[in-house]
Amino acid sequence: MSTPKIKYGLEIKFGSEYGAEEENAVLNVLRQGAPTSGAACIQFEKDYADFCGVKYARVVSNGTAALFLSMIGIGLKPGDHVLTTPLTWIATAAAPATLGAKVDFVDIDPITYNIDPNQLEDKLTPHTKAVIPVHLYGQICDMDAIMQLSQKHGFHVVEDACHAIGAEYKGRKAGSFGTTGCFSFHEQKNISTLGEGGMVVTDDAAVFERIALYRSHCTRVHGNSTKYCKLDEEKFPIGKKFWWQDFDDCGYNFRMTDIQAAVGIEQLKKVDSLNRRRIDHAAYLTEALKDVPGLTLPTVLPENKHVFHLYPVMIDADEFGMTKEDFIYDMLYKYGVKIGFHYIPLHWSTAFRKRGFKRGQFPNAEKTAEQLVTLPINPRQTQEALEYLVDSIKKVRK
Ligand SMILES: Cc1ncc(COP(=O)(O)O)c(C=O)c1O
Repeated sequence: MSTPKIKYGLEIKFGSEYGAEEENAVLNVLRQGAPTSGAACIQFEKDYADFCGVKYARVVSNGTAALFLSMIGIGLKPGDHVLTTPLTWIATAAAPATLGAKVDFVDIDPITYNIDPNQLEDKLTPHTKAVIPVHLYGQICDMDAIMQLSQKHGFHVVEDACHAIGAEYKGRKAGSFGTTGCFSFHEQKNISTLGEGGMVVTDDAAVFERIALYRSHCTRVHGNSTKYCKLDEEKFPIGKKFWWQDFDDCGYNFRMTDIQAAVGIEQLKKVDSLNRRRIDHAAYLTEALKDVPGLTLPTVLPENKHVFHLYPVMIDADEFGMTKEDFIYDMLYKYGVKIGFHYIPLHWSTAFRKRGFKRGQFPNAEKTAEQLVTLPINPRQTQEALEYLVDSIKKVRK
């Protein structure tokens, strides 16, 4: 059977939306020679720091780079322990793992699907350097509980806020609680910088300095760091006329281009209205699907502003009348609607089975993975598209 044409934009891809403002921004920077790490990047960083209510922001090539640089920023060393949730994209755990840390998981809270702080304390060791809470699907974790444990035990909190641009917990923005907050501007995220992009935010000047250096090969020229290259005549007695370049350490190129940053500036101006549409669409789906047997719809906790990067639904096969797999298949082939699944628990993956993990270790994450699907949600959906989606879900189980 061939895949039918996806109807009404009911695909998972392309979460964001661009307009004339982004087109003009691209052309303006193009006419200035399309630099990298120039004025648009610096402006985007300032705007983003203000948006999150933090002191520093550094723009990077993607969310994975943001996580990687956060690990370096907190001074992670091989052998350190890092805890995160098993229900996330692999980038969350890959950043510490590839830097030589020992990654372990803490099971999720079955209501929010976020890391369960009640199970966190038992997993801490004297070597726990960081905990990475992931604000899954756009709802912030229980940050009061996590930050209290961080103060008691002295570990860093690195927020994976890739799903949570503009989300709030008790009126505070995602990314502003931990030592750092990491964001992704991938094409599916709530705002995008031409398909890829990311940002790290922090209030800590020393952490920011390391992030800034390692983002660009640990060199202090070209505004890469908060400090600039100085002649060090004791080490290099070459005279004042020579300019030399030094590298503090071996770092990376995780920079963003100015064309992307200029688009980011425009997207950030729209983020509240883009999120508003996601929140309205989620409210419509929750109301329209509330009486369908066998579906568990998302719970938004009162302290949270959930920005619905994704709309998660659990399917009880007995009550709903079909399994998650059959639902995904029939929705695509009968109705042209692409349903997502986010995620396969990381301890089921080859990458973490190789590191000694086994099925059965994190039962809440596993039950969720067996039953959870994500419905298409994005700001471009029309009322007609939402009605078609709901109608298709009601018909598919008959
Ligand atoms: C939870 C989470 N963390 C990190 C990332 C990595 O972001 P990027 O794809 O921009 O590298 C993603 C990307 O989808 C994600 O969903």
